[in-house]
Amino acid sequence: MARYDLSAEIKKNEKLSDDVFLMTILAPEIARAARPGQFCMLSVNGNLRSDPLLRRPLSIFDSGDSGDISFLYKVTGRGTDILSQKKEGDSLDIIGPLGRGFRLDHSGPRILAGGGMGVAPLHFLAKRLEGAFSVILGAKTKGEILPVVKTFEASAERLLITTEDGSLGEKGLVTAMLEKELCLSKKNVLIHTCGPWPMMRAVHDLTVKFGTRCEASLEAGMACGIGACLGCAVKKTSGGYLHVCKDGPVTDSTEIDWEI
Ligand SMILES: Cc1cc2nc3c(=O)[nH]c(=O)nc-3n(C[C@H](O)[C@H](O)[C@H](O)COP(=O)(O)OP(=O)(O)OC[C@H]3O[C@@H](n4cnc5c(N)ncnc54)[C@H](O)[C@@H]3O)c2cc1C
Ligand code: FES
Repeated sequence: MARYDLSAEIKKNEKLSDDVFLMTILAPEIARAARPGQFCMLSVNGNLRSDPLLRRPLSIFDSGDSGDISFLYKVTGRGTDILSQKKEGDSLDIIGPLGRGFRLDHSGPRILAGGGMGVAPLHFLAKRLEGAFSVILGAKTKGEILPVVKTFEASAERLLITTEDGSLGEKGLVTAMLEKELCLSKKNVLIHTCGPWPMMRAVHDLTVKFGTRCEASLEAGMACGIGACLGCAVKKTSGGYLHVCKDGPVTDSTEIDWEI
């Protein structure tokens, strides 16, 4: 699988809400090779001799024929804070596309269920899927997802929104809405999910209850992103560990030991 390590120019770094940004980078090689569910490692200070040293993993939010690739990210610490201060014309070292993406070859119905910044890889998936699918987007509050709702409206047959504080859509959790959808849906549904670990664990539990399949896009602390440091290990149900950066981030939810 093609992987590129290059210095790329930032075309835009838009502030979408208090702490959510959308960064667009010109990287035609990565844009051409990228598949939904894959991610990149970004050096937030532009070179590898600076602090913080480690690159930060971000899912590919969009990638197109123009050669642009974009990332939706939330400022959660120092690295993403530095990233948020980047301007048009700055350059950034980036490695990608990395990891295993979502299955595109399923012939039955699909539900995409995203929580918080977990909507990022689902956005790219929604753009590449053919046929009808439903999307459930959830967040603590509307600021986290409002900026991306419009783009999902264009592709999803059915779009359901839920926020924990009720500031957008129905008040509640993604999983409560997913349970209602699963009660209504036909057989052979494939769920694609990404979000905080407890949310994905609850999504997995629902798929067991309803006898459906689920692909979860996992997150883990990452140092290298290419399978060299073994820092991103997650326990498997069959014993041993998988490494999120190379065995994932997208994995069949039955492979994961969710009880941690
Ligand atoms: C494959 C993958 C894809 C990701 N995609 C996105 C994305 O599209 N958009 C987005 O906003 N974030 C995404 N993340 C999470 C993002 O990498 C972290 O938020 C970021 O590395 C934090 O860096 P920081 O220096 O700002 O914060 P730090 O100071 O390093 O940490 C701040 C907080 O973030 C938590 N954190 C740090 N690294 C991670 C991590 N890898 N996963 C979860 N929490 C973490 C820490 O525990 C801490 O609470 C992804 C993570 C992975 C592994
Ligand atoms: S981040 Fe180094 S092995 Fe996965």
